Parts: sequence; C-alpha cells; structure tokens
Amino acid sequence: MTNGLLHVRLGEHPELNVVNGVLRVTPEGSTDSLFVVRTSTDAPLVLSTICTHLGCAVDLVQGQLVCPCHGSTYSLDGTVRRGPAVKPLARYAARLEPGDVLVIDLGKSA
Ligand code: FES
Repeated sequence: MTNGLLHVRLGEHPELNVVNGVLRVTPEGSTDSLFVVRTSTDAPLVLSTICTHLGCAVDLVQGQLVCPCHGSTYSLDGTVRRGPAVKPLARYAARLEPGDVLVIDLGKSA
C-alpha cells in the first residue's frame, strides 16, 4: 500500500475471475478489511466490511454479506436486503490500471 492506495493484482485472485466472486483483503496496517466484489465483467466494486447499523464486521455467507450482530444482510453490490441497517455498505473509489491491477483509494469512500 502506498499513499493510501491499495493495489490488487486481479490475476493473483481467481475468485475475482467469476461473476459474484468475492475477495476479502485487509490493507497493511489496518484492522478493517474490504470486500472486492466482481458483480459483472466491469471493474470490481470495493466495499467496506463495516455494517452501517452499528459497526460490526460483515461476513460473506452463501453469496450474501451478512452482519452477525443483528442480522442485516447486504447484496454483493452493498445494497441493504434486510435491516436493521438502512444504508448501503460504504463503497471505495477504485480503478483498473494496465496489467489488470485494481487500484483502491482508501481515502475515498461514499
Ligand atoms: S451492527 Fe450490523 S446489524 Fe447491527
């Protein structure tokens, strides 16, 4: 990781070669991980794993993102499928660079 940018070489993660594939990564020096999700053939999405209800860490369970604390469930694009959470998971800015390297801007989430 350099300057708040995390580089993920997609070719090193076969789970991201299939639609609905999910990779969990933890940036160096951070305790919070991220989900990198291939929802289509476009560049993968990058989502926070922090539940928008009260901040527990969300897990990948049978193709959905599920919070173990109170059961909020999110689609792989981060939208809420079941509450109590009402806001989607935060999404990080990311872009594909030559060589199939996904560059994630850890300073930019919405
Ligand atoms: S903290 Fe995730 S559902 Fe409450």
